[in-house]
Amino acid sequence: MIGHRNEVIVMLKPNLLKAKMRQKEEVLVQVQEYIVKEDLKKIGKGKKYFIKTYGCQMNEHDTENIKAILEEMSFEETEKMEEADFILLNTCAIRENAHNKVFGYLGRIKHLKEEKPHILVGLCGCMAQEEVVVEELLKKYKWMDLVFGTHNIYNLPNLLNETISKKQLEVEVFSMEGNIIEGIPVKRDSQYKAWVNIMYGCDKFCTYCIVPYTRGKQRSRLKEDILKEVKDLVEKGYQEVTLLGQNVNAYGKDLKENYTMANLLEEVAQTGISRVRFVTSHPWDFTDSMIEIIQKYPNIMPYIHLPLQSGSNEILKKMGRRYTKEQYIELFLKLKEAIPDCSITTDIIVGFPNETKEDFEQTLEVVEKCQFDGAYTFIFSAREGTPAAKMEDCVSLEEKEVRLQRLNERINFYSKKANDQYLGKVVPVLLEKESEKGEGTFMGYTDTMKLVNVKAEKKDLGKIVSVEIESVKTWSMDGRIV
Ligand code: SAH
Ligand code: SF4
Ligand code: F3S
Repeated sequence: MIGHRNEVIVMLKPNLLKAKMRQKEEVLVQVQEYIVKEDLKKIGKGKKYFIKTYGCQMNEHDTENIKAILEEMSFEETEKMEEADFILLNTCAIRENAHNKVFGYLGRIKHLKEEKPHILVGLCGCMAQEEVVVEELLKKYKWMDLVFGTHNIYNLPNLLNETISKKQLEVEVFSMEGNIIEGIPVKRDSQYKAWVNIMYGCDKFCTYCIVPYTRGKQRSRLKEDILKEVKDLVEKGYQEVTLLGQNVNAYGKDLKENYTMANLLEEVAQTGISRVRFVTSHPWDFTDSMIEIIQKYPNIMPYIHLPLQSGSNEILKKMGRRYTKEQYIELFLKLKEAIPDCSITTDIIVGFPNETKEDFEQTLEVVEKCQFDGAYTFIFSAREGTPAAKMEDCVSLEEKEVRLQRLNERINFYSKKANDQYLGKVVPVLLEKESEKGEGTFMGYTDTMKLVNVKAEKKDLGKIVSVEIESVKTWSMDGRIV
């Protein structure tokens, strides 16, 4: 009987094998005039939604799209989960602990749903693209209402509508290479800085990483669409854009035109927006012409996130990173020389399968050599379906934790050292919001992406102000406007 609570109809489940296929077929760019059907526009009337976001900037930005879609359906946002009629978790699959957090949170939501059976509970994002996760949800979380994947966001109005009318767990996850859908609305978190996707997916298939499976193949947005979005933001008074992608340096490689990341950066800089940033840069695709463009335009910020992952050539090879430690250092030094005061941060994984003590020591050596401004460090986490998950690993978790701690100690040392250089200097800071401390303290970032707390007034919000740095810590600094 359709509509019966115990009957779970699975529409579309994820499939890792299918997600792995990469064909030469052209990417379909669907420019949708994003129109929510009239009869769906009212289904959220008088109802509130709560959305919790895990993971990277792509997810943050997807959440900005989801919020706008829900508000077109008349839902209203709430920051209190207990108040919501629709609770949605936008999830991340990058490491095991990201999973655990989400399943932990679902436990809390279940209690709430027992008290208030009318609320709708959904899960989306990268975990929804994983076969194991969806199987588990179907087995043990039948009380949930909706699961949809990273390729299904545009269809949220219809999915929600079906969920409401059918009252059964609805799953829609396309395991596909992905198209590009333009025209989805967006409700940006900030009035001053904005994320702009320039590409989706990833084709690098680093052996430890789940992203190429959860986000589909690399597909670059058309430059016209990107530039239009940026110009629009300039008109609205935005000060900063961050060009987003898993591997932005490879922008355009999948398009037939001979138009690269360097070309795009230049045209974005020429829009006149005060600040241009971009993440993430895979060292492999960083070209000299990109460096020239960064040098040429003062509104391209002197800040680069350049993931190292490991300092051992043996491990880099097993990771499928396609560069050696020597090549990484060469690029690093070239950037430091070409771009004065450039800050460079990185990502490092310790405890990749069978990482030896010597491998790890080599990672530390690169850290000593590069003295990064900061780093995100992780213990390797086996992701089902990736090649590294099947590799033999004799290193104990205790040993990996010791390595992580040793690494973090050095990373923090150099973060503090880098920050110490700022003491007494005057630097530009874009004031973003009142800091949690309150009391007239505002927070913002320098051009080099250093977090600064500044005594300021509300009228300074959204401005790039000159700040004298009065004290520094490992992760932030304090200063005053001069
Ligand atoms: N596209 C970016 C990385 C995105 S994921 C790049 O290639 O640089 C962010 C970081 O998570 C990675 O740089 C890596 O350090 C870490 N990471 C990815 N998969 C991981 C795994 N299975 N275990 C531990 N850390 C991982
Ligand atoms: Fe993952 Fe590698 Fe792609 Fe980065 S480049 S998203 S680490 S596969
Ligand atoms: Fe996580 Fe997906 Fe981003 S796995 S890191 S949210 S692309």
